[in-house]
Amino acid sequence: MRNIIVINGPNLNLLGEREPEVYGTMTLPELEAAVTSFASAMDVGVRLFQSNHEGSIIDFIQENRHWAEGVVLNSGALTHYSYALRDVISAVKLPAIEVHLSNIHQREEFRRRSVIKEVCAKQIFGLGLRGYFHAIEYLVGLDVVKQLQRVGKEQILTKAVALLKARYPKYTWVGIYLAEGEDLVLHNFLGKPSPHTRIPIGKGICGAAASAKQSIIVPDVNADARYLACSIETQSEIVVPIMKGARVLGEVDIDSDQKEAFHDGDQEILERCAAIIAEVMPS
Ligand code: DQA
Repeated sequence: MRNIIVINGPNLNLLGEREPEVYGTMTLPELEAAVTSFASAMDVGVRLFQSNHEGSIIDFIQENRHWAEGVVLNSGALTHYSYALRDVISAVKLPAIEVHLSNIHQREEFRRRSVIKEVCAKQIFGLGLRGYFHAIEYLVGLDVVKQLQRVGKEQILTKAVALLKARYPKYTWVGIYLAEGEDLVLHNFLGKPSPHTRIPIGKGICGAAASAKQSIIVPDVNADARYLACSIETQSEIVVPIMKGARVLGEVDIDSDQKEAFHDGDQEILERCAAIIAEVMPS
């Protein structure tokens, strides 16, 4: 995912003065500058576009279909009725993320319906500017998933760690633990060496995720008694079990130096990576 287009539809040019109690006080140029700098920190090039006209948005998507590898789209009110927009998203076959600044599910009835949702990889709402950041991260994640699907089983564990560490600047430490009897044993990692190379299942956040057989996001490790400290810089963590049926084969463990670095988009992408890993691992 090297290049994406970020589109804002009707009335989003009025951000800042338009219903600030709903959409916030940030203007469109401010939002676009923040999106561009977030994307460039992830090594993603952006072309921005805003229009109040359905046809112009369709033209822009068509014109950029060979340059862009993904679309972030806040189509404003067109979301709720534009089948032409839905058709162009399907036609160009680019992964698209539907974004809304406000929580469209807690407003008027007509906003709950999106005619583009089914052709988008994800719908993000109610997060303001952060929603655009999550959308960019998700597009990058879909690319990681696609690349991992092409990796053979001998390299899958090293490649998974390398891809995740390289593509997400917020992932400070990325490692894979494999289950050995009652323990999780650190197999490979990128980041500073960890003192926790063998963790009993049930201990720490890694151990807790293995015994619950569920992903765990810890927004603030200093507020979680289960956290086994590896580095004073770590602020948040996500652990995703690698499962074959009901068996835990191992775990993907990621630390970040940022507080609250992980969200549902990270979890979805990492669970897809874990499923790809599980598929090629011997049980
Ligand atoms: C919006 C929500 C839409 O319902 C509305 O028509 C907009 C903005 C949002 O960002 O919250 O114009 O897409």
